[in-house]
Amino acid sequence: MLLDKEVNDNGVSLYRNSVGTSRYLTRGKKASLISVVKMQEAFLLQMLDKLPHLIKTGRSKMNIQKEMNGNDVEDKTNYGDVDNNTKREMAQNLQNTNSTKMMPGPDKLSPDFQMKFIAVMDSLAAPSAPSLVKSFDLSPHKEAVDLGGGSGRVSIELAKAYPDMKVALFDLPPVIQIAQKFNASQQMKNMTYIGGDFMAGDFPRADLYVLAHVIHGFENEQIDTLLKKVYKRLSPGGSVLIMEKVLTEEKDGPDLGITNDLVISLMSQGRERTGAEYNSLLCRHGFRNVVIRHIEGYNYYDAVMAKKPF
Ligand SMILES: C[S@@+](CC[C@H](N)C(=O)[O-])C[C@H]1O[C@@H](n2cnc3c(N)ncnc32)[C@H](O)[C@@H]1O
Repeated sequence: MLLDKEVNDNGVSLYRNSVGTSRYLTRGKKASLISVVKMQEAFLLQMLDKLPHLIKTGRSKMNIQKEMNGNDVEDKTNYGDVDNNTKREMAQNLQNTNSTKMMPGPDKLSPDFQMKFIAVMDSLAAPSAPSLVKSFDLSPHKEAVDLGGGSGRVSIELAKAYPDMKVALFDLPPVIQIAQKFNASQQMKNMTYIGGDFMAGDFPRADLYVLAHVIHGFENEQIDTLLKKVYKRLSPGGSVLIMEKVLTEEKDGPDLGITNDLVISLMSQGRERTGAEYNSLLCRHGFRNVVIRHIEGYNYYDAVMAKKPF
């Protein structure tokens, strides 16, 4: 959240900076968000630069991203030291964005840029993936599908930790092609690659679905579509394992959850959630026994597991 809203006794709406905005988007304070943005090759800087426009107009973030390529928003973007090809590619990517796919739509990027994007996703997941797959005993599960699995880091760690489990990495076809190349030196006997669109099409049945950094990038309606499909295709007694940084109930921590929330708010229709919000989201779709495990250390993920009743 960028701003917190409160309605006073006279019905007047009052806005104040959210904890994340005060901490990371306030002039004069150390802008630790900027280093995250730079690490992601200035993709997010374009959107940070449009922040006043976003807040003043309250227009859909997706529209703003499209406008950024048109004429009605003055472009004062500071691209830093990003090269011209990267800038062109960013603009093209924003124009090509399809609302059924999460920003920034890696399938629309050139192979060279996709490889860079996959590498960024991989570096975010790599430190915590081994702990994440062991945060719950997943050994009773026989077939797992890692929906929107990106680089495959979580799938690979799942396949390593549970050699008897069949693991499928599922992502958009162009992303799957890149992931296969990216992991060429790390072939796992119990892991397969499947290309598809989990919003528009179907995906294999399983007794375990993993959704790592997927839910936080979509708007509520799309999350409902996806969770409905996951529930329907999941075997009775099966599990869904959501891997996202879970916010405290006060939404004042952890730090990486707050910064992620700001970044996600800027680049997509999504946001980070508290444990209670995940509980109610999952229960609304029929899941039960929601359990949250926090992953220690500097990382971008926690684990939220829920069951489909028999
Ligand atoms: C932020 S990445 C997360 C990747 C990986 N799960 C991780 O944690 O590193 C989101 C992934 O979802 C994939 N994705 C987005 N929309 C999709 C769709 N409609 N069908 C299949 N995959 C999709 C993207 O291609 C991307 O690889």
